[in-house]
Amino acid sequence: MNRTLGVLISGRGSNLQAIIDAIVQGALDACIGVVISNRPEATGLERARRAGIETLCLGHRGYASREDYDRALVGALRARGVGLVCLAGFMRLLSPVFVEAFPNAILNIHPSLLPAFPGLEAQHQAWAHGVKISGATVHLVDRDLDAGPIVAQRAVPVMDDDTADTLSARILEQEHLLYPEAIRLVLSGDWSIEGRRFRLGAGSVAGT
Ligand code: GAR
Repeated sequence: MNRTLGVLISGRGSNLQAIIDAIVQGALDACIGVVISNRPEATGLERARRAGIETLCLGHRGYASREDYDRALVGALRARGVGLVCLAGFMRLLSPVFVEAFPNAILNIHPSLLPAFPGLEAQHQAWAHGVKISGATVHLVDRDLDAGPIVAQRAVPVMDDDTADTLSARILEQEHLLYPEAIRLVLSGDWSIEGRRFRLGAGSVAGT
């Protein structure tokens, strides 16, 4: 599989940093072709620059529609030979235009055990609901929000004295381990999709 990643961020970029670190340490055989943010103030852009990775800031103003913006994103990723798109705290809904441009080649990390607590502030939702176990999920992106086939998950117990913030911090530690691991699995190409299921070792993905 094409090992050039395009990482999309909107903010802090700690998951981006975990991916960069895994590559530098030789734990992940990939390279990051470009980091794109929809927000100029995203501190993750600085992390990318420090690592010598090309950055691009694509704000949505000036685009007539979500589809037009997504076409610009797709163009920027394709121009850099990106084979796998990694959403790392990218806080924008993607249209079918984007999803169909990279079929089964977009990953997202979400701070809950999906399908529980999709959407915004998942850690707070889980804490407020009173669940005893939450966690993090990496999944393939399809047309529906936080809903594509699940590649990998890590569970995080919720402690009695947790606040939403302490729980978020412990989930984030697991996210940083989970994301490079999930990218490695996907780049192996040794998987298939059966219904909603991401199955490892069950064959090779077409086109890889
Ligand atoms: C992470 O917790 C990620 O799971 C979450 O945003 C945070 C980004 O942090 N993503 C979502 O909630 C997507 N629905 P980071 O910028 O430090 O990687």
